[in-house]
Amino acid sequence: MLVTSRSAAEYRAMFSLSPGQSFLDCCAGGASFCAETPNVVAVDPAYVLGYGELSRLVRTGLIDGDRIIAENVDHFEWSWYGDVDSRAAMRIDAADRFLADLRTRPSRYIAAALPDLPFADDSFDVALCSHLLFTWAERFDENWHRRALTELVRVARAEVRVFPLVLQGTGAPVPFLSRLRSALPPSELRDVPYRFQRGAHQMLVIDARNAPTRC
Ligand SMILES: C[S@@+](CC[C@H](N)C(=O)[O-])C[C@H]1O[C@@H](n2cnc3c(N)ncnc32)[C@H](O)[C@@H]1O
Repeated sequence: MLVTSRSAAEYRAMFSLSPGQSFLDCCAGGASFCAETPNVVAVDPAYVLGYGELSRLVRTGLIDGDRIIAENVDHFEWSWYGDVDSRAAMRIDAADRFLADLRTRPSRYIAAALPDLPFADDSFDVALCSHLLFTWAERFDENWHRRALTELVRVARAEVRVFPLVLQGTGAPVPFLSRLRSALPPSELRDVPYRFQRGAHQMLVIDARNAPTRC
């Protein structure tokens, strides 16, 4: 799994975000959402690595990400980015911002992993998950997803938002998504303005208020 670097602009489009809320970004990887947005805490298990190793992983993520895109250009829609070069430039800028912010505000970056987060109940307005849940459903099973989403609901006061809802590579739907939703607090599938992976144009929004799954 690559440590990728999406920008705050990508996050705003993937999650249809409005300003003025506090956010948990889990998993944040090398994304610059925290660097570019007030009231964000970023979580990723890769943060346990020192700055040097993380910096190397983020640079590798840029190179490998570009190569995967170049080999599979037809698997993607380009209406949001425009073209390959615009996407690559956005990711380089995001990686630079992430690494600079990690240096200057390291306390914003917490080394932890789903499904166990080191935060009290209701710590954030909104918990975001970009490109881990569902994306990697061939690696993490249904039970892991249920535990991870329950944990995100626990630490969120208002909502949990997850994007995308399809598998990486094939873009196939995740077979257990609707069964999982029925075991969680009320949720909806909402269209988002972001376009890239074919078939990925909806986010999952879980209502975390008064959630019965809260521990
Ligand atoms: C594809 S990257 C996505 C990064 C970022 N959200 C973005 O959109 O660019 C996936 C990230 O998930 C992290 N990860 C892997 N297992 C995790 C877990 N159990 N809990 C939280 N993050 C995890 C990886 O370290 C990696 O940085």
